[in-house]
Amino acid sequence: MKVYITTAILTIVLLLGAIGYKQQFWQTATLPVDDEQQGLNKQIVINFSHVVAEDTPKGRTAIKFAELLEQKTNGRIHVIIYPNGMLYNDDNELKALQNGDVQMIAPTFSKMTKVIPSWQVLDLPYLFHTDEDVKKILDGRVGEQLLNQLNHANIKGLAFWNNGFKQMISEKKPLVRLEDFQNLKVRAMPSNVLQSQFEILGASSITTSFDELYSEIENHEIDAQENTISNIYSKGFYKVQNHITLSNHGLLGYAVLMNEDFWNSLSPELQEDVTEAMSEATEWNFKTAKKMNKVDLEKLEKEPNIDISPLSVAEQKRWEQKFQPLYTSYKDEIGSVFLKEIQSEMSY
Ligand code: LMR
Repeated sequence: MKVYITTAILTIVLLLGAIGYKQQFWQTATLPVDDEQQGLNKQIVINFSHVVAEDTPKGRTAIKFAELLEQKTNGRIHVIIYPNGMLYNDDNELKALQNGDVQMIAPTFSKMTKVIPSWQVLDLPYLFHTDEDVKKILDGRVGEQLLNQLNHANIKGLAFWNNGFKQMISEKKPLVRLEDFQNLKVRAMPSNVLQSQFEILGASSITTSFDELYSEIENHEIDAQENTISNIYSKGFYKVQNHITLSNHGLLGYAVLMNEDFWNSLSPELQEDVTEAMSEATEWNFKTAKKMNKVDLEKLEKEPNIDISPLSVAEQKRWEQKFQPLYTSYKDEIGSVFLKEIQSEMSY
């Protein structure tokens, strides 16, 4: 009996040993070393959140920046883009950036004016007249000074990107004369200048975040809004508002922002790569934004039931005059330093 039990135990031990050897249970060796796995450990991820579609000037430039940065750093930095407000919307993306929940966002500069009031200068209607002037200011010396204002907010400002000139779009009637705005409910981004711009015309301004805008228009809570052709096309606003006025009255651009602690955690070499990739992407952005707005306007012109009206030269003069008090209030409230700088660099 004893012999029988001992043989059985020995057999079980031998069997377990054989299985263990086959499965390499006893080996203390670490996982096979391979370069890709080492690379993954060291990879730095930038989560970049924004509120518009991928096929827009901002969406495409974000992708371009991601590609350039990954190339420059040989994959060391990987940028993951979250478009369409899928992570954060207008109301919470800045907090998310400051908390480090994402590393990059690119809100319109208008949406940053509560934090940086001097940026309202960029919202003044008819301040810019040509794409060349926009580029000169946003991508030049004045743009750099404006970005430096972010130092007070613990945010690293990387660049300004452009979308283009804003047009008016409305549901019930075309807005071709100043008087057409009387008593309308017009959506404005959260900027005092933009809100006053509509109030001065006898309309009431309503602040709505971009992700809620379409449904508020559908529910007739908003009669009209200002936006670029590329946003009007990509977001399908023309399906619920079919009168477009080519007023080119204001600029829509973005401040490209990075969490400051994240920026400081990058080595000087990686910071240099980010700066270079951003500068190349920004150059590309100005050309792409112009092309996209042109192509999207051509597509809108082909849509049935859309009424697109240009603003006559005489009417534009009236609009410009009507908006003059906004310049005075801006100067009274903020000062005239940036306004003077911008006007002195313009080609007109
Ligand atoms: C809007 O809110 O209308 C736009 O600014 C959205 C965007 O980021 O282009």
